[in-house]
Amino acid sequence: MTSSSRTLYLFASAAPPVFDLGRVIEMAQGDDGWNVCVGLTPTAARWVADGLDDGLDGLEALTGHPVRSEYKLPGRPDVWPPADAILFAPATFNSLNSWALGLTSSFVVGVAAEAIGKNIPTVTVPCVNAAYVRHRQFDRSVAELREQGVVVLYGEGGFTPNPAGSGEPKGYPWGLALEAVKGVVGGSRGGG
Ligand SMILES: Cc1cc2nc3c(=O)[nH]c(=O)nc-3n(C[C@H](O)[C@H](O)[C@H](O)COP(=O)(O)O)c2cc1C
Repeated sequence: MTSSSRTLYLFASAAPPVFDLGRVIEMAQGDDGWNVCVGLTPTAARWVADGLDDGLDGLEALTGHPVRSEYKLPGRPDVWPPADAILFAPATFNSLNSWALGLTSSFVVGVAAEAIGKNIPTVTVPCVNAAYVRHRQFDRSVAELREQGVVVLYGEGGFTPNPAGSGEPKGYPWGLALEAVKGVVGGSRGGG
């Protein structure tokens, strides 16, 4: 990372690919020189704290930024630089639907919802099983986010649902996600 690096907000919710975040941070920093800030839903933060070797501290050490999972208190400063792009992955059924519906009780969903209005380039990769996607809200949420300019890597060329109860999805498309981020940023810069 250099002082001129562009900043990627890497947001994740509570689905198994959240345990890949250490590797994904290094991919983003190494391949594309991103300055990465990690945001998690409260449930994802509990998973990382419990399930990754160095927990939240490990992700903070890798990125050099606090990991955030809660809104700041009024009057407190922003602890992250403004975002040039956002990658929300993995996006659970809950977080994706909340985002599409504008229900912002979780910090990362709130920032992602505001990003639409701020024209911050945003990519998301759902992580949902085949049973969740049969709920009719799922397709509506994907369509809604796409209509508002979010790149949703779902279906052909993105995430394909695994059968319900089959455990961790294989081959979560992190490489495609980072390529898509590169594609959406182009020369634009946003604010966070
Ligand atoms: C082991 C395990 C695996 C899960 N995998 C998924 C998943 O792949 N996709 C999903 O939408 N929810 C999955 N869930 C359920 C979510 O963790 C749960 O809905 C949670 O409330 C999501 O909250 P969040 O969106 O705020 O992170 C899983 C739960 C457990 C315990």
